[in-house]
Amino acid sequence: MANDRPRVLSGIQPTSGSFHIGNYLGAVRQWVAMQETHDAFYMVVDLHALTLPQDPAQLRGNTRLAAAQLLATGLDPERCTLFVQSHVPEHTQLSWLMECLTGFGEASRMTQFKDKSSRQGADRTSVGLFTYPILQVADILLYQANRVPVGEDQRQHVELTRNLAERFNSRYGRTFTVPEPHILRETAKIFDLQDPAIKMSKSASSPKGIIDLLDDPKASAKKIKSAVTDTGTEIRFDPENKPGISNLLTIYGTLTDSAVADVEQKYEGKGYGALKTDLAEIVSEWAAPFRTRTQEYLDDPETLDSLLAKGAEKARAVAVETLAQAYDKVGLLPGKH
Ligand code: TRP
Repeated sequence: MANDRPRVLSGIQPTSGSFHIGNYLGAVRQWVAMQETHDAFYMVVDLHALTLPQDPAQLRGNTRLAAAQLLATGLDPERCTLFVQSHVPEHTQLSWLMECLTGFGEASRMTQFKDKSSRQGADRTSVGLFTYPILQVADILLYQANRVPVGEDQRQHVELTRNLAERFNSRYGRTFTVPEPHILRETAKIFDLQDPAIKMSKSASSPKGIIDLLDDPKASAKKIKSAVTDTGTEIRFDPENKPGISNLLTIYGTLTDSAVADVEQKYEGKGYGALKTDLAEIVSEWAAPFRTRTQEYLDDPETLDSLLAKGAEKARAVAVETLAQAYDKVGLLPGKH
C-alpha cells in the first residue's frame, strides 16, 4: 500500500442487519472506490452502537454481518485496512483526551444528539449518546486521516473533529492532521420508496420503504413495483415535483453507472411500470452475487474473524503511535500504556 496516498477513514454502525440500497449507493460504494486511490481505513463502529440499547448476541451477529457485507461489496483486506472499532482500545483512550478538550455547550449543539435524545426522552438518553461525536473525533484523529467520506448528516461531527484537532495542535503543538470532510452529496442520496421526502433509513423508514440487499429478490421487486410515484406519466428527473420517480432514476443510474439523463431518454414515452420492472431486475441481478458472497463469509466465521484480527493489528500499529504522542503532549507521565 503506497504511503504517499492521502489517508481516508470512515465507519459504519453494525446496527442495521442487512445493508439497504441507500447505505450501499450512498456510502459503501465510494469506500470501495477509494481503496484504489487512498490509504484507506474502514471500520465497523461497534462502540458507537452501544450508545443505544443492544442485545448482546445480536450486536455480535450484526458486527460480523456488517464486516461480511463490506467484504462482499468489494472491500479488499489487501487494499484497505478493515477492522472493528472495539479491537483497537486506543479509540476510547484518545476519546477521553478529546472529551476533556470539548466544551459542554459545544457538545450540546450536536444536532444528531439533539434529534436522537429528543426522540428517546431524557431518561433513556445515555451519557454515551452525548459523547458519541467525541468518540468519532478520536476515530478520525487516531489515524491522521486526511479525508472522511460521510453523508451530509455527519458534517457537523467532522467539523467538530477539525475544531478539536486545531485546538489540540495550538495548545500542545502540532500533533493531529486536520481532516477534510468528503461529503458524499453529489453521489446518490436515496429516499424512502414509500415516502420519497425522507432519506431511506433503518430508523425512519417502514420496511416497505427500504430495499434490503440481503432480502429475497422477489420481495425487493415487489417493493420497487409498489414504490410511491406521482399521478403523472412522464419519466423525468425532477426531485421537487416528482420525488418518487426521481428516486427510482437515481437508483437506476447509480447501479448501472449511467447518467440519469440517459436513463430518462431510454424511458421516454414508456410508463412507470416499465421503469419499475427493469429496475427490479437490475437490483436483483446486482444483489444476487452480493448475497452469495456475504453468506460465504458468514458460513466461515473463523476466516472472517481472522481477517478482522489482521485488520485490527494493522490499524493498531498506527493508533498506538498517535496515542503515545498525544499522551506525551498533554503531559501524561510515560509508563506502560
Ligand atoms: N457516526 C457515523 C455514522 O453514523 C459512523 C462513524 C463513527 C464514523 N466513527 C466514524 C464515520 C468515523 C466516519 C468516521 O454514520
